[in-house]
Amino acid sequence: MHSSKIVGVGHHVPEAVITNQYLTTIMDTTDEWIIERTGIKERRWIDPSKDTVANMAAKASRIALQRANLTEKDIDFIVFATITPDYFFPGSGVLLQRELGLDGSIGAIDIRNACSGFIYALSVADQFIKTGMYKTILVVGAEIQSTAIDPTTRGRNTAVIFADGAGAAVLQRSDNPGILSTHLHSDGNFAEELYVRDPGSSRPREERQPEQILDTTHYKVVMNGSLVFKHAVVRFLEVIQEALAANKMSKEDITLLIPHQANLRISQFIQHKLEFSDDRVYNNIMRYGNTTAASIPIALSEAWGEGKIKENDVLCLAAFGSGFTWASALIRW
Ligand code: COA
Repeated sequence: MHSSKIVGVGHHVPEAVITNQYLTTIMDTTDEWIIERTGIKERRWIDPSKDTVANMAAKASRIALQRANLTEKDIDFIVFATITPDYFFPGSGVLLQRELGLDGSIGAIDIRNACSGFIYALSVADQFIKTGMYKTILVVGAEIQSTAIDPTTRGRNTAVIFADGAGAAVLQRSDNPGILSTHLHSDGNFAEELYVRDPGSSRPREERQPEQILDTTHYKVVMNGSLVFKHAVVRFLEVIQEALAANKMSKEDITLLIPHQANLRISQFIQHKLEFSDDRVYNNIMRYGNTTAASIPIALSEAWGEGKIKENDVLCLAAFGSGFTWASALIRW
């Protein structure tokens, strides 16, 4: 059986910085409320005239490839995690393939597991490499949430949290195991606690009048914030412990924990429970908000760029989100 290793990471975020102060001009909220509840100070929103999920993903991917000393032609397969694809279908994986100038000799799939999407994508790619099917896989998480939120007082409980960005990792066959293990979970009983109802196919045809949908549920993020918070803190800790147990490691073996950037309060709660010092947990939600599937690869790329990840370090990635889904990955760099 082969092993896989991350050989390059990259990220791209849109230029426009949306501060909490700006949000106070378009909805009834305050800088204090947002910082106190979420830790977010600013986030990035796309310019719809130039940014798409696929082209942001392509920018992040090219950086990851360059850092891995590889080119587009080296990619055998694409795994693309997003819940905000450019089109309802096809998925954004094929659009990224086109952006990168790749032809039909390779395949691309989309993963729709929200905030856990990148770890699910990493796990899928890891299995393909382990079995020997592919040698080099591009794993991407990219989202445009700013066009899916309701940027008014009506949507303020989610509009202040979710944001845009893209991150990528190149996974390659390796003699030294990099991805030590991945752990995936879901519980669909909580599907409607954090979801976007439309344009879902379950909506009856007679209810599909554009004005009816636009005014109610189309693109509207519905979130039971306190329930999400309660489950997240439990599941994050469980899935981190599961990863450690599977590798016969203890929490002391983790050099750096990179949690999905859901909410700074969630990350701080986990840090406190694990009794980790600040330098062992990477957070950038203050600058980027919650970018769903893009949050972990953006954080990974940024932490690597800041010199916070060194050879042989043990990283733990952990995520929780819509579904509910939750997941972890233990990685030796
Ligand atoms: N600005 C100002 N007030 C806001 C607001 C905003 N952006 N959003 C909601 N409020 C108001 C509510 O209307 C409510 O007012 P009321 O008491 O008059 O009814 C009040 O603030 C408290 O709302 P509530 O939803 O109970 O706040 P909360 O303490 O649960 O915090 C979250 C809300 C979303 C920050 C919190 O539940 C949370 O962080 N949950 C986890 C969310 C998450 O991580 N999601 C991503 C998962 S991947």
